[in-house]
Amino acid sequence: MNDSVQANGAKPADKDRVLIFDTTLRDGEQCPGATMTFEAKLEVAHLLDTMGVDIIEAGFPIASEGDFEAVSEIAKRTKRARVAGLARAIERDIARAGEAVRHAVLPRIHTFVSTSPIHLEHQMNKSAEDVLEIIARTVTQARNLVDDVEWSAMDATRTPIDYLCRCVEAAIKAGATTINLPDTVGYAIPSEYAAMFATVRDRVPNADKAIFSVHCHDDLGLAVANTLAGIGAGARQVECTINGLGERAGNAALEEVVMALKTRADKLPYYSNVDSTMLTRASKLVSAVSSFPVQYNKAIIGRNAFAHESGIHQDGILKNAQTYEIMTPESVGVSKSSLVMGKHSGRHAFREKLRELGYELGENALQDAFTRFKNLADRKKTVYDEDLIALVDDELVSA
Ligand code: KIV
Ligand code: ZN
Repeated sequence: MNDSVQANGAKPADKDRVLIFDTTLRDGEQCPGATMTFEAKLEVAHLLDTMGVDIIEAGFPIASEGDFEAVSEIAKRTKRARVAGLARAIERDIARAGEAVRHAVLPRIHTFVSTSPIHLEHQMNKSAEDVLEIIARTVTQARNLVDDVEWSAMDATRTPIDYLCRCVEAAIKAGATTINLPDTVGYAIPSEYAAMFATVRDRVPNADKAIFSVHCHDDLGLAVANTLAGIGAGARQVECTINGLGERAGNAALEEVVMALKTRADKLPYYSNVDSTMLTRASKLVSAVSSFPVQYNKAIIGRNAFAHESGIHQDGILKNAQTYEIMTPESVGVSKSSLVMGKHSGRHAFREKLRELGYELGENALQDAFTRFKNLADRKKTVYDEDLIALVDDELVSA
């Protein structure tokens, strides 16, 4: 499988390319208990740049001196990707973000303001007209600092569509080059999220001047599904994080989006430039530096993602891996699938496992060892290689 070739063998057009905007170092770090050190952030940013991420959101420069330093250093060191700094729609935030990213090869200011009635009334105490004026003023300020300005409508999915269209129009008019419509509270369902993009792109007169972006939270477990729906409705930038790290239930997981596009190119004819063979490495690094464990059964990069225990599955995998695997382990940077020995495992897998460990048993010895293995597996959750070695050595000695 090749990133740049579609299932039908045709080269995809540029219009089908989805830009990957990684916000592990910003939204990801907002995940309770997942703060990262300065050095760790540099290491993560370097890996993201190497694996082909298009935009790295390096932090929120006004948030702290440490965040400012990390964003500036990442901006200086990053060779290929754009580097973005986040700013509220406040003059000093935008100035600080501009200062932090100014040494980047490709600097971006990402500014946002809430647009939903509940945020306007209870959080900001502003009228809808006030917010329109704020958008025009702050996006213009950002555009005077950098050429690449992203504007986000916070809580877009709970914003009345007519008003959202007016906000988007104002942001593009003031110079925003990317328009992000986040599902800030993870409330949307895929059909609804897609319809929002379709309507805004259709109704806003200057919509074709900007790239539309998706940013989904996982409160209902729909972040990746919503992301893919948004792409289907014309969004060409995806905001996501390694391991799905992020506020509350997290953000759309980068590895899941990248592999969904790659694995289902037949139904999702879009592509990213991320080197998927680096996904496991990135996951391990982010998990280690954020001290945030990855659940065992996490899609793509969880420890069980390519592990098979049941006899039927193991037998299939040994005959042809595609019977129970929809992507190769190598494509995400795992050297091979694993056959986990447990009470559901069958003889075929047991024999293969023993071969791997260097044992070639005759039929009778194999059957005896298999019976003893099943007894052990009934008592023990997982049978490790060491258990099998002890069991077979014992068998050979007593034979
Ligand atoms: O979820 C959200 O709305 C955000 C914005 C700052 C883009 O993270
Ligand atoms: Zn967010």
